[in-house]
Amino acid sequence: MELKVVKASVEKGEGLGWGKSLLVPSIQEILKNDSKSVPERYIQEPKDRPLISQNLFDSLQVPVIDFSMLAQKDANEIRKLDLACKEWGFFQIINHGVREEIMVNMKAAMAAFFELPFQEKSKCAKGANEIQGYGQNFVVSEKQKLDWCDMMFLKTFPHETRNFKFWPLTLPGFKEAVEEYSTEIRKVSNKIDANLSVLMGMDENGLKRKLGEFQQGIRMNYYPTCSRPDLVLGISPHSDGSLFTLLLQDDEINGLQIKHKEVWIDAKPIPNSLVVNIGDAIEILSNGIYKSIEHRAISNEKKPRMSIATFVMPGDEVQIGPLDSMVNEKHLPRSYRNIKYIDYIRQKFAMKMQGKAHTAIVKL
Ligand code: OGA
Ligand code: NI
Repeated sequence: MELKVVKASVEKGEGLGWGKSLLVPSIQEILKNDSKSVPERYIQEPKDRPLISQNLFDSLQVPVIDFSMLAQKDANEIRKLDLACKEWGFFQIINHGVREEIMVNMKAAMAAFFELPFQEKSKCAKGANEIQGYGQNFVVSEKQKLDWCDMMFLKTFPHETRNFKFWPLTLPGFKEAVEEYSTEIRKVSNKIDANLSVLMGMDENGLKRKLGEFQQGIRMNYYPTCSRPDLVLGISPHSDGSLFTLLLQDDEINGLQIKHKEVWIDAKPIPNSLVVNIGDAIEILSNGIYKSIEHRAISNEKKPRMSIATFVMPGDEVQIGPLDSMVNEKHLPRSYRNIKYIDYIRQKFAMKMQGKAHTAIVKL
């Protein structure tokens, strides 16, 4: 039903591209006037509120993958990666080769942007009919609850998808930091892609051959402190529409939680690591063997938290569907239909973030 809505608006020539989202106030700005306020629009329904207490599952840890071992084709590490993708949909990578300085510069550039006066940031604001820029996405109704978060979404690869109208070009060092970071992350994502190709029964170039040049988009998240973190969500439960996502999170502040075997557990930060999660596109290509897991972010009372999610995606016109190597009529029948990537991503942007509801469109 949702898809019809998107298609109708696309046919009318509106919202061409990936989609649109209603404009909402900046929560960071609201709090500048009253740091204790928790406006009604942000208070989640009781069933959706996070339980902020001693986590009972504290001992459960997202698997850690040593990237340098993958480079050496260490069979044990490759097996760990396979298991992490099957059982967790999440892993943290260490020794990934992105120099610390590049990550530090990227975090500093993001922090400098969010610290700019609102008027300055507004020069990069997204319009209601676009999803790139400063503001918020996935807001489709005036009635829906809002996330305790401001964001900035920029497309970074291929080069021609960069739209500098949304970049704070007068902020010293910002462009350079994003360019360097996105280039380094692309190297890491190429290696992940090569490993996943092999694990899914192809050679190292299998996914590239099938999908062509990948797109990359960067979402910078600013989660202000909240006087009642038990009532709000930093980012609502969702799975990512990407092939996979690489998240650079704060080195100290917990916030990211993933749904593992029906319980929410913390993805505790490991300094200088990157959190990687399987997105919907790999779930579809792997015929459901690798899973895009629901995750969310919670806020806290003490310190604002920032994170940078880099989404690696197929090209808009590419058809995605279960790979031949992942389908077996008898033991592993097809669970997803084929879909053009842009149709998938438009469907995702047309809905509130609501767990995996947006994946229904491709399930058989
Ligand atoms: C995202 C996301 C989690 C975080 O941006 O898609 O899941 O911890 N972010 O910021
Ligand atoms: Ni996400």
